[in-house]
Amino acid sequence: MVKVLFVCLGNICRSPMAEAIFRDMVEKYCLGGEILIDSAGTSSWHVGARPHKGTLRKLDEYRISSEGMFGRQFIKKDIEEFDYIIGMDEMNIRDIYDICGKPKHPKVMRLLDLTDKKADVPDPYYTGDFQETYDLLLDGCQRLLEKIKSEME
Ligand code: 4NP
Repeated sequence: MVKVLFVCLGNICRSPMAEAIFRDMVEKYCLGGEILIDSAGTSSWHVGARPHKGTLRKLDEYRISSEGMFGRQFIKKDIEEFDYIIGMDEMNIRDIYDICGKPKHPKVMRLLDLTDKKADVPDPYYTGDFQETYDLLLDGCQRLLEKIKSEME
């Protein structure tokens, strides 16, 4: 079983959207039984909360399930539990290393570094642009799935 964890700041906008998009994609490739997917926030602000309305609306629009997702905080143990730890921006990556007390780890990567864009995923909590976030996450998730499939072989 390959375990993938998406991480953002609040775990209500970007990382749950990435979790839902990636789960949908993995199921379409019939890899649901082989890849476990979760998300977490580096802050504790929205522990137990459902995703942001903007994220839920965007997922509904694309007929992607948002079932069973509730905010949780990233914890030190996650670095051992998961095989791929995917941050949305540079701040998430710094916070992940701070929480784990590690200077660097090959499991930890910024999602759009897997694409040509090599950039942060803008935070729609501040930009209000959930479509931009969806489009970038879709691109990143496609690249991530290709990477994981190539590394599963
Ligand atoms: P996220 O966005 O990290 O993509 O979930 C945010 C959600 C909530 C807050 C900030 C960013 N907040 O300040 O509560």
